[in-house]
Amino acid sequence: MTITGLTSEQLSFWEENGYLIIPDAISQEVVKELVDETAKLLNEFPLEGHPMTKFTTGDGDKHIGDDYFLNSNDKVRFFFEKGAFSSAGELIKPKAKAINKIGHALHTNSPLFAKMTMTPLNRSIAKSLGFRDPNVMQSMIICKQPEIGGAVLSHQDSTFLYTDPPSAIGFWYALEDTTPENGCLSFVPGSHKWAPIKKRLVRLPEGGTGFEDLKEGQANGVREKGGVEREGEGDGFVLGPVKKGSLVLIHGNVLHQSEKNLSPNSRWIYTFHVIEGEYPYDERNWLQPPEGGFSRLNDVELA
Ligand code: FE2
Repeated sequence: MTITGLTSEQLSFWEENGYLIIPDAISQEVVKELVDETAKLLNEFPLEGHPMTKFTTGDGDKHIGDDYFLNSNDKVRFFFEKGAFSSAGELIKPKAKAINKIGHALHTNSPLFAKMTMTPLNRSIAKSLGFRDPNVMQSMIICKQPEIGGAVLSHQDSTFLYTDPPSAIGFWYALEDTTPENGCLSFVPGSHKWAPIKKRLVRLPEGGTGFEDLKEGQANGVREKGGVEREGEGDGFVLGPVKKGSLVLIHGNVLHQSEKNLSPNSRWIYTFHVIEGEYPYDERNWLQPPEGGFSRLNDVELA
């Protein structure tokens, strides 16, 4: 793919559907480097001293409020799959097969992932999508481990990565082929035009995190664009299987999900999120900028 940004066909698909699949966005050589680096990270992180934090996004799950999670904004940390533990709480998988995700600052702390995030390609795509000052605010490797890789229920990314107005867009690179069997993404096409952001994840005064309903007057990504808000999941989910090396762009309002991975194969992907740096960033958001601020794609030289 060239670095001239999105074509008009790609942009019209994006505007219509709220997501876009770009095959072969990175070369297979780069994919292999990133896969090798991921394997190294998984094999080398120490279990000793790890708080064994598991990752889920459910409303009642308090553990995403712990310090290991909350202070991962400028670190490379490892979050476990729930299914990697027995009912007695013992790890029943080798550690490299037990991690749900690695986050949230690969784009600053891992030279290889930084190199593939802060690229002219990503900058030019962000510009095509309308960003004036695209800021990379977090990054993660999601492992979706064989047999235990948890489902991610229907959600909108701007709930977790809120700006006013909502501006988050996910850049999601497949490091392995994603299929219906290993838990590929699925989307409700067009839902970004009618599904409002209703709540957001904030730091609670008593510690930890919780969901807070958006207040009257806060932008929800639909109202301020003159759209008509609707309830429910619309016409339903459409599967989006992709080959490794593909880039999937995900609008912060679009409803998407992925099923549990019951297959014998992993489904490794690398994703980072971009927000508009010109909008004020709320100090109650769970994720706070590191010292020096978020990483600006505008700092990348366009080749
Ligand atoms: Fe998501």
